[in-house]
Amino acid sequence: MPEFDDTLSLLLEGYGWLPNLRRRTPGGVVRTRLMGRRAVGLCGPEAARFFYDEDHLRRGTALPEMVKSTLVGHGAVHTLDSAEHRLRKAMFMTLMTDEGIAALTGHTMTAWDETVASWADGRRVVLFDEVAKVLTRGVCRWTGVPLDDTDVETAATDLLALVDGFATAGPRHWRARAARRRREAWLAAVVRNVRHGALSVPAGSAADVVAHHRGSDGELLDPRVAAVELLNVIRPTVAVSWYVTFAAHALHRWPEYRAPLRDGDGEGSFAEMFAQEVRRFYPFAPFVGGRAVRDLSWQGQRIGAGSLVLLDIYGQNHDPLLWKKPYAFDPQRFDGRQIGAFDLIPQGGGDPRTGHRCPGEPITVALLQALTTRLARLRYDVPDQDLGISLRRIPARPASGFVLTLTRPSG
Ligand code: HEM
Repeated sequence: MPEFDDTLSLLLEGYGWLPNLRRRTPGGVVRTRLMGRRAVGLCGPEAARFFYDEDHLRRGTALPEMVKSTLVGHGAVHTLDSAEHRLRKAMFMTLMTDEGIAALTGHTMTAWDETVASWADGRRVVLFDEVAKVLTRGVCRWTGVPLDDTDVETAATDLLALVDGFATAGPRHWRARAARRRREAWLAAVVRNVRHGALSVPAGSAADVVAHHRGSDGELLDPRVAAVELLNVIRPTVAVSWYVTFAAHALHRWPEYRAPLRDGDGEGSFAEMFAQEVRRFYPFAPFVGGRAVRDLSWQGQRIGAGSLVLLDIYGQNHDPLLWKKPYAFDPQRFDGRQIGAFDLIPQGGGDPRTGHRCPGEPITVALLQALTTRLARLRYDVPDQDLGISLRRIPARPASGFVLTLTRPSG
């Protein structure tokens, strides 16, 4: 049977596109075409293991231009393979120490407390936008990137736009491209200033590490590529706003989780289980893709060399074979559960040091735990608004961005 190009269906169906195709396909291995290229869709922990085997897939040419020119940037670690990938990835991994993550969380909580103090006048605030500003302040302080208070709002707006526009052909996409041009120019100047000594940044900070990183040729990165990678620390940290807004949505729908979060110490096991369930339950990255390096065989089916192979993240996080009642929000499902390298994959699977799995998962979980705990301790009203989450929109979020009014600030 001829495979029709399904790009339009993806844009229309969003997160449901690949799971729907899988449900309609005997054996569950989807064959389709995406942007004119032959594509195969897989799902499940064994598929994830297959996907993350470097002997099977390469990333270099897998990401479409619309994702490179918005979300990740040209020359990003996401687009490297083999030895070059490992060297660049090691640069990111050096930032992910326990002390580093604690420092980032500390800067972010300070910014949160200052921000919440400014809401005391009872005005309505959009949580999504406010958390983005909090995270922008926290991550810029942590990375050593100078940012005046007066520039926080425009920076946060750009950083959100980079994520918001990667999977659409409309105005959100063009906003994202413009935001990338601005933010790469901003950070390339930071890199140049660090190198020339015009800007002094803390040793070991992301600005320091990225500015002085050398590639496999022994040379410093081109300032634009260095800017891309510094942005690949700052932009996804600010993207944690999506998860915090989802966490607020969960606390609103299931208020029984407020007390165990409020009474914990912010790092306790319930806060962690809640954060993991937010990452599993709510939609964010729909799938990841790679190209077959040679003719491959998956469960007896042939995957031709050069085919695009998609791993269905959203589908796997809602797979009833892996998660009991997958459409129930239940943090307790993580109580005592050992999370395997290939089962909970909202930020990719496998080993982050050697493969393409997100290096920022510990940061994401730490920030989400800390911010959710703070949120559970706040007293606020939730006025009438559209809290619907459309699965057709990638990335999804509560339509209103979660509007709240503080009733009484508390510790
Ligand atoms: C890669 C999701 C937060 C830095 C990825 C990938 C996903 C993802 C799906 C691709 C995995 C793959 O290709 O196999 C997310 C989500 C986040 C988040 C949903 C939370 C909002 C972070 C943070 C950082 C970060 C906080 C850094 C501070 C990166 C980098 C890569 C990556 C550098 C490329 C890794 C590689 O290609 O080797 N992320 N991420 N992410 N993420 Fe994250």
